[in-house]
Amino acid sequence: MAIELLTQKAGPQISKYIYGQFSEHLGNGIYGSLYVGEDSDIPNVNGMRSDVVDALKQIHVPVLRWPGGLFADTYHWQDGIGQKDSRKKIVNTNWGDVTENNHFGTHEYFELLRQLGADAYINANIGSGTVQEMAEWVEYMTMPGESPMANLRRKNGRENPWRLKFFGIGNESWGGGGNMRPEYYSDVYRQYQTFLPQYDKDHPIYKVACGPNEDDYNWTDTVMRYAGQYLDGISLHYYTLPTGTWGQNKGDATGFPEAEWDSTMTRAKHMDELITKHSTIMDRYDPDHNVDLIVDEWGTWFNVEKGTNPGFLHQQNTIRDAMVAAINLNIFHKHADRVHMANIAQMVNVLQAMILTKGDKMIKTPTYYVFDMYQKHMDADLVEGVGQVPKNVTYTASQKDGELTISICNYDAHEAVDTQFSGLAKFTEVDSAKIITADKLDAHNTFDDPDKVVEKTYTGAKFANGELTLALPAKSVVSVTLK
Ligand code: AHR
Repeated sequence: MAIELLTQKAGPQISKYIYGQFSEHLGNGIYGSLYVGEDSDIPNVNGMRSDVVDALKQIHVPVLRWPGGLFADTYHWQDGIGQKDSRKKIVNTNWGDVTENNHFGTHEYFELLRQLGADAYINANIGSGTVQEMAEWVEYMTMPGESPMANLRRKNGRENPWRLKFFGIGNESWGGGGNMRPEYYSDVYRQYQTFLPQYDKDHPIYKVACGPNEDDYNWTDTVMRYAGQYLDGISLHYYTLPTGTWGQNKGDATGFPEAEWDSTMTRAKHMDELITKHSTIMDRYDPDHNVDLIVDEWGTWFNVEKGTNPGFLHQQNTIRDAMVAAINLNIFHKHADRVHMANIAQMVNVLQAMILTKGDKMIKTPTYYVFDMYQKHMDADLVEGVGQVPKNVTYTASQKDGELTISICNYDAHEAVDTQFSGLAKFTEVDSAKIITADKLDAHNTFDDPDKVVEKTYTGAKFANGELTLALPAKSVVSVTLK
């Protein structure tokens, strides 16, 4: 039986910000990978590493969350401005107690955004900072006229304000961001947002409150009740851990038993239940969906690679990660009427990364290729499907500019499956078709073999008489566009 796609019915728009990224001052997530400095032998533009920036430009990163994560609540922005050699050196207490020289600061962040063509999403320090410090940072970044902070910005070489699109007030305030109770956090949030200056009346800064950890539904309920009227979005953090525990053994990124393939798929799919239940709670306070859910940390979290600093969260990325990426993106699309932004953790070298670097080498991961293949869903209209979806298959259909894109994942470890779609009579031909798949459960790219798992042209699509049949190998993600 085919899945009928209701292409005449306009679904909600899939926000491009669902394809957002996250880069924290954590391990090799920024230094040496995104930012190498102007004097590096590695080719760079204004200190930003050119090969990495070029690869990221191809996937059109829409927004980049920075500077943390946990780091955000220890970050004092004034340490990261001015002459680099006189910037304060601090200890990164969350991530390995390494020395942070603050060479990547506010100006460098906006330069990276400029090169990527991405929007800004900055997380304030409410854990160890002050209301005044936050307000002055925003004044520094966004005040167009004369003011103490705007003048300091000019002294540091930037005449015009930057556009600050999204602003997070609190990160994991229930844990490392302050160990607050939701009642207390709600008041802290209300206080901070009161003093968030909005100089650009045409483009008010979008305010994101710290939301729940995983299934902490009481957090969502309490923050929505006490602070819901003062926020644009509330965040959700949920990571996919194969063993389901935050203890010593989260499961390895490679060489894992097949049971951990299965448990990883199950835990990735749990995102659907979390979004559904948090969104239902939000409905009580916000039935018109004026407040968005912002999944600003998600992805796989494995044991670190052997021999690496445990505080650097460095892990390999395999075809299993490609499945997790596709499953999550399909879930976010399904909830497009509530999920406005998502930020995979993290963009380079940390957790479920797009890119891994080593010295002057870089590789694109299987996750990168899924983000590449899925690009046509950005800002497209979701298309509803009616009919039975085969076991271990998840998909999205969306349309934009007269084209329909179906992205589908068969995460079964062994079984291939055919999937049919009907209702496509208004389209005439397959415009493009891509696949990523692999034989082994932990197939991945290495610096010696960088193209082992890459997207390829897909030849398994049959399109005739308004029906599309896709032959899906086991462990595959396929994206097909009809025009
Ligand atoms: O992404 C790594 C860390 O995970 C972040 O710093 C923190 O917010 C979360 O616990």
